[in-house]
Amino acid sequence: MYRVMLVERNRLMLEKLTQVVQGTNGFELVARYQSVSDALGQGTIFNPNLILLDIEEQNSVALIADFLKVYPKASILCMGEKWKAESASHIVQAGARGYIIKPFTGVELQEAVDTFLKLGTEAGCETLVFFSPKGKSGKTTLIANLATALARKTHEQVGIIDADLQFGDMSVFFNLAPKTTIVEAARDVKFLSPVTLHPYFMPVMQNVSVLCGTATPNLIDKVSIRRFESIISMSRSLFRYLLIDVPPGFNPTSIAAAEQSSTTFLVSMINDAYEIDHMKRALEIFQDWEDYQERVKAIFTRVEPCNSQSQQELARKLGYPVTAIIPNEYSIVSDAADNGKMATDIRPDSPLAQSVDRLADEITGRGHRIRWSVS
Ligand SMILES: Nc1ncnc2c1ncn2[C@@H]1O[C@H](COP(=O)(O)OP(=O)(O)O)[C@@H](O)[C@H]1O
Ligand SMILES: [Mg+2]
Repeated sequence: MYRVMLVERNRLMLEKLTQVVQGTNGFELVARYQSVSDALGQGTIFNPNLILLDIEEQNSVALIADFLKVYPKASILCMGEKWKAESASHIVQAGARGYIIKPFTGVELQEAVDTFLKLGTEAGCETLVFFSPKGKSGKTTLIANLATALARKTHEQVGIIDADLQFGDMSVFFNLAPKTTIVEAARDVKFLSPVTLHPYFMPVMQNVSVLCGTATPNLIDKVSIRRFESIISMSRSLFRYLLIDVPPGFNPTSIAAAEQSSTTFLVSMINDAYEIDHMKRALEIFQDWEDYQERVKAIFTRVEPCNSQSQQELARKLGYPVTAIIPNEYSIVSDAADNGKMATDIRPDSPLAQSVDRLADEITGRGHRIRWSVS
C-alpha cells in the first residue's frame, strides 16, 4: 500500500489529483499540500512512502534534495505538465524515482509506480546500439538472443527498439503481430512520457519487450530523427538494458542511435573476404569519438571455427580488439526462428548460446576482460 503525499501548487490540479489518488487501488492519500514549506514542515507525522511532487517552474534539483532530507525513506515521483528529457535526467540524478505528466489517471499512476519503483532508472541504462557496415550481418539474431540472455541473468528490464526501419524483422523473430510499432510511437511521442510510451513495447518474455519496426517500408518517412531520439531517451527511463537495431550503414538513423549509445557494437558476418575491410572503414568513421576505444566494440558472426585463435586472428587483421565472435550455426538459428523462440532458450548448451552468454557477462560486468561504465 502506498501512503501518498501530494504536493501541488495549483489548487484545482490538487483537487483533481486528490480524486485520482483516492480512487486508485493500492494508494492511500495521507497528506496534501499546496505549499512546499508546509509539506516539509508538517507532513512527516503522516509517514508517507510516496511523494508526488510538482516541479513545474521550480528548482527541481534543490526541491528534491530538501524532500529527500526530510523523507529519506519515501520515493519521490515528480509531476510536470510536459515531459522533457533534460529535466527527467536531472531529477533522477537528484534522487527522484521518475516523472509523471499531470493530470494523470489511476491507471497511469499505477503504471508509473510499477515502472519507476520496480524497474531501473535512466541513470542506470546501458544503451547498446548494433551497427552493421552492410546488410545481413546477423545482428537481429544476436540482439534477440542477447536480450534474452541479459534478462535471464540479471532479472532486470531489457528493451529492444527495432529501428532498422526498412528491413525491421524483430517482430518476425519473436513471432509478434504488433498493434503499435515505432511508427505509432514516433507519431505520438510529443504527447508521451516514459510511462505512456511503455505500452507501445510488446512483451516477448519475462523482462524483455520490443518496440517493433515498421510493417510497411514506405512508413519509414514517418519516423523523424528528432522523434526517434525522443523515443530513445524516454526508453532509457524504462530499461536497464536498451538494445537498438539500426539500418545497415551510415545513415541519419544509425548515427542518431550511435550518438546516444553507451556502447556501439559493429557487427559483421563472415561471408566473403570483405568483412574486415568493411569493419575497418566503419571503425575509421567512429574514430572521431574521443572515447571511441571504450565505446566501440567489434563483433563478428558466423565465425568458423569459433575459438580464441580465430578471434585473435580477426583482431590482428582488423588492428582492433574483437569483443565477441558468434559461431556459424545456421540450423539452430533458423530452427529457433521457425519456432518463434530464441536459440539460447532452445539449446542453452549450444556454442551460439555460450558465445552470447559470454557477451552478456561482459556487458553486465560479470566478465572480467572489459570494464563497462554506466553512462
Ligand atoms: N551465427 C549465425 N550463423 C549462421 N547463420 C546466421 C547466424 N546469425 C544469423 N544467421 C542467418 O543470417 C541471416 C541474417 O541474419 P539476421 O540476424 O537477420 O541479420 P541482419 O539483422 O544483419 O540482417 C538469417 O538468415 C539468419 O538466420
Ligand atoms: Mg535485421
